[in-house]
Amino acid sequence: MSSKIVPAITRRGFLKSAALISAGFAISGPHISKSSAKTTTQVRLKAGQASVRLAPEPAGETAVWCYNGSVPGPEIRVRQGDRLQVIVDNALDEQTTVHWHGVRVPNGMDGVPDLTQPPIEPGGEFLYEFDAVDAGTFWYHPHQRGFEQVGRGLYGPLIIEEREPLQVDREVTWVLDDWRLTPSAAISDDFGNAHDISHSGRIGNSVTINGRVPDRFTVHKGERIRLRLINAANARIFGLDFQNHEPIVVALDGQPVTPHAPDRGLIVLGPAMRADVVLDMKGEANQSTTVIDRFYKDLEYRLVDLAYSNQPLRSQPPDWPLELPANPIPEPDLNNAIRHRVVFNGGMMGGMVMQEMGGSMGDSSPTGMMGGMGSMMGGMHSGNIWFINGVAAEGHILEPMLTLEQNRSHVIAMTNATAWHHPIHFHGHSFRVISRNGTPTTHREWQDTVLMAPKERVDIALVADNPGDWMFHCHILEHMAGGMMGVIRVA
Ligand code: C2O
Ligand code: CU
Repeated sequence: MSSKIVPAITRRGFLKSAALISAGFAISGPHISKSSAKTTTQVRLKAGQASVRLAPEPAGETAVWCYNGSVPGPEIRVRQGDRLQVIVDNALDEQTTVHWHGVRVPNGMDGVPDLTQPPIEPGGEFLYEFDAVDAGTFWYHPHQRGFEQVGRGLYGPLIIEEREPLQVDREVTWVLDDWRLTPSAAISDDFGNAHDISHSGRIGNSVTINGRVPDRFTVHKGERIRLRLINAANARIFGLDFQNHEPIVVALDGQPVTPHAPDRGLIVLGPAMRADVVLDMKGEANQSTTVIDRFYKDLEYRLVDLAYSNQPLRSQPPDWPLELPANPIPEPDLNNAIRHRVVFNGGMMGGMVMQEMGGSMGDSSPTGMMGGMGSMMGGMHSGNIWFINGVAAEGHILEPMLTLEQNRSHVIAMTNATAWHHPIHFHGHSFRVISRNGTPTTHREWQDTVLMAPKERVDIALVADNPGDWMFHCHILEHMAGGMMGVIRVA
């Protein structure tokens, strides 16, 4: 890539751009008001159409839907404990909302149309306002017809900085996306087709980092980089292999985790998932290393090259601490937790998997599962072919599938009775992933989106401390459109 992969916007750079984008605000001067101890950052996001360069020349530009004319939208950066106010203008031809993925906001700020707010009409606006309670890597995107709105480019990073950030030489955000482009680099308009819905979702043919098909990313010998990875794709799961570079994972879905080398050396990110990794540049000046995405068997490809400049920064990467301070999330008490079961089924070949799993699940299958089989057959015709506890969702107003008693600990045992991967997201909370197929996880990581393999059982635990009706859904946006969505009430 001749231009560069956009490096992390510096704090100063952001403030400048924040000032630019909030030019429409009635307040003059710097848009940081220090009323009490709390700083409030104001941002203006305009959802609309634009033309951007995703693919290198000689391909043309691509008509997209995006925020403030760019893909991704502006990187919003605030400090933990600060308050964020975002005015969203809707310049699209259809309704929209903005959801702050992974941020523990009050229910009314969660951006779910009809459930938590009326959708923003074309020409309308909505003010979102909440405290940045957890530091970490988050992102924002619409929750209205996400399979098309996100798929056309509506998303952006939201970074909440620790009060004392990790010491590194450089902080970089990579927002990954996957596009289905025609030969002239237009977005293929087959959004929400039946095949994508019933299989692995809308997998594209062009992967971008920060809105550009990448070529090379310049690094320096001895440099330490904090790389914030965000998967904004509708459906593509990434499995990044940095080869002879050994990334250390320090946070998942924004939440600190014991620093560790990833399993089998692969950083796996389902749609909506994030990882913060510390990358030490151990190579030599003028060398280069290819980052390979090898998630899908036999479909690996070169994502980008880490290209060493001829100017070493130092002879060895530094030896600075890697631990991030924990966020203020209440710890679930497993001994006194209330237990719940959730089963996902449907999709192509779903019946087969259920038969195979029948033996082990037997009579313990929760109510509705067999009902799911029945309605699945009916659902096949209406396009709703994914089920949670036997129900396929239509729209966002739903009877709660579960009610979690507020301020109690809960364990949700989730079973993926399908032939497909699903990144399962719960709004308004982070949860600990405590076991997979009955085996305790090594890091008991906090996540807001957990990737479940076909036939896998994953147990999660949380304190339900945020009251309201919250979405619970697969983040493969075509699966969500095909019914894989429900509401969990905290009351
Ligand atoms: Cu990132 Cu309900 O979504
Ligand atoms: Cu799914």
